[in-house]
Amino acid sequence: LVGRWPRELRDLREPEARLRQRRRASWFVTSFDAVAPGRTEELISELRKSEELFRTICENAPVMIDQFDDAGHCRLWNRECERQLGYTLAEIEACDDPLALFYPDPADRERVLERLTRADGEFREYRVRAKDQSFRTQMWADFRLPDGSLISVGHDVSDQRATEGQLRQSQKMEALGQLTGGMAHDFNNLLTIVLANAEVLERELGASSALVQTSVREIIAAAGRGASLIRKLLAFGRNQMLALQPLHATALVNELAPAFARLLPDAIRVRVEADATIPAIRADQGAVEQILMNLVTNARDAMQGAGVLGLLIERRWVEPAQARRLHCQPGEYVAIVVRDDGVGMDDVTRARMFEPFFTTKKGAGTGLGMPMVFGLMAQQGGAVTVESTPGEGTEVALMFQVEATASARPELASSGGRKILVVEDEAALRRVTTTILSQEGYEVETMPDGLYALERLRGEHQIDLVLCDLTMPRMSGVQLFEALDPNTRPSFLFVTGHPTDEAMAKIRRDETVQILQKPYKVDQLLSAIGAILAAQDEAVAG
Ligand SMILES: Nc1ncnc2c1ncn2[C@@H]1O[C@H](COP(=O)(O)OP(=O)(O)OP(=O)(O)O)[C@@H](O)[C@H]1O
Ligand SMILES: [Mg+2]
Repeated sequence: LVGRWPRELRDLREPEARLRQRRRASWFVTSFDAVAPGRTEELISELRKSEELFRTICENAPVMIDQFDDAGHCRLWNRECERQLGYTLAEIEACDDPLALFYPDPADRERVLERLTRADGEFREYRVRAKDQSFRTQMWADFRLPDGSLISVGHDVSDQRATEGQLRQSQKMEALGQLTGGMAHDFNNLLTIVLANAEVLERELGASSALVQTSVREIIAAAGRGASLIRKLLAFGRNQMLALQPLHATALVNELAPAFARLLPDAIRVRVEADATIPAIRADQGAVEQILMNLVTNARDAMQGAGVLGLLIERRWVEPAQARRLHCQPGEYVAIVVRDDGVGMDDVTRARMFEPFFTTKKGAGTGLGMPMVFGLMAQQGGAVTVESTPGEGTEVALMFQVEATASARPELASSGGRKILVVEDEAALRRVTTTILSQEGYEVETMPDGLYALERLRGEHQIDLVLCDLTMPRMSGVQLFEALDPNTRPSFLFVTGHPTDEAMAKIRRDETVQILQKPYKVDQLLSAIGAILAAQDEAVAG
């Protein structure tokens, strides 16, 4: 409708067109036509009515409407124009070159002028500068009136465009998450084979050749790096499983410092400071590495080439009031603090930094770093605090829970006479697991999938523990678990490279179930098995 009436206005000059208008019962025209010649008062009153109608619509329509005469003076600037662009009619009238206000780039101005001259009534997208100097995305169409003036009608689509951008971005992340999720399963299987075989080799080698030992250690380290890479990719799909365990923050930070230094230009120095006594924290090593990498990268960007990056490890006490704010438990925490002397943040940036996709690094940032940090810290039962002063720097403190039983390693059961059934579809993985467990003194049987295992576990089975892959052809680990009678079912230790949320949620509820993330170190596997068997012993004794 809006796009039509100015053209109809132009038509008003021709009598046939007027007739056509009347047939359509347009408010504008019929009232004029009804006026008999010579009745001026009636004409004026009709004009007033029409003017009133027009003004009410124009002022209250949720679209921007403006009019500039052929000399470039502003004649009409409705309320929506004022709301969206910030300028009042008086301000626009007082301005010599209103176009320059809205389009600071001369090239843009030229393009806009060309379109204004054409005034073809087509809506096109423009990037318009508002009074607060922010740029808005707006659709505008221009129409020429018979008196030579220009009417422009526009609406703001900035929010819509921003949402579309975010949606595209999150769809991209989701696709990436699905892709890596699918890959992670196979990839983690391969890494587990590499890692486990290398560890078997390392044990067998003893003190033989230093050169071979070094090579084996390199293989183990590379497999470890591969595993952490997969973890990072999985974090995007939010299907990362964290294994919380006692960690020594200072040792970890010292271990990572060289990797951080490689990330930073020479003129940025890294300084690690730690309290003398720091209790162990409860955290996932991969997650902590990932978090610190993100924070160090942010600090690097903020320091613009030079400065001091502090990594501090200290004890902190969280009071109940602060705990409520941070959504964590009050009490003692270990803080790993990343402190930079970079550009800092103003209040607006500081308030928005945890928003997904919020970034001030145009084109260079995804704005996912801090949301990931926040999510991973929450998942570990910790919290994040940020302090920042523009021009002075930023301090991000990662608050980790203190591990209460850090030194009390669980008593492991002896392996003698214990029977483990390994259910795993990957033959190489079955072989190496058998090697490791046999070396430890366990009796080992293997099955290539859930259905075979089900046959084996029905009736008398004498199996103490099932070490079971989650994803397998024919029958998955969860299906196997559920197909067995809970009264005679042995304990299960699931290993998985890519836990699907659904399957995980189901089996997590069962207390006789433990889960180990692939790829695991031999130590982790053995202590998980040892702990489960020890719990069985305790249950029998109690
Ligand atoms: N140490 C810091 N100093 C100053 N500003 C920071 C600091 N850390 C984060 N910010 C601000 O918070 C914003 C969001 O950070 P975040 O890590 O989530 O995204 P990003 O670094 O912009 O992009 P990405 O991490 O995805 O590459 C940054 O764009 C920056 O404005
Ligand atoms: Mg970042």
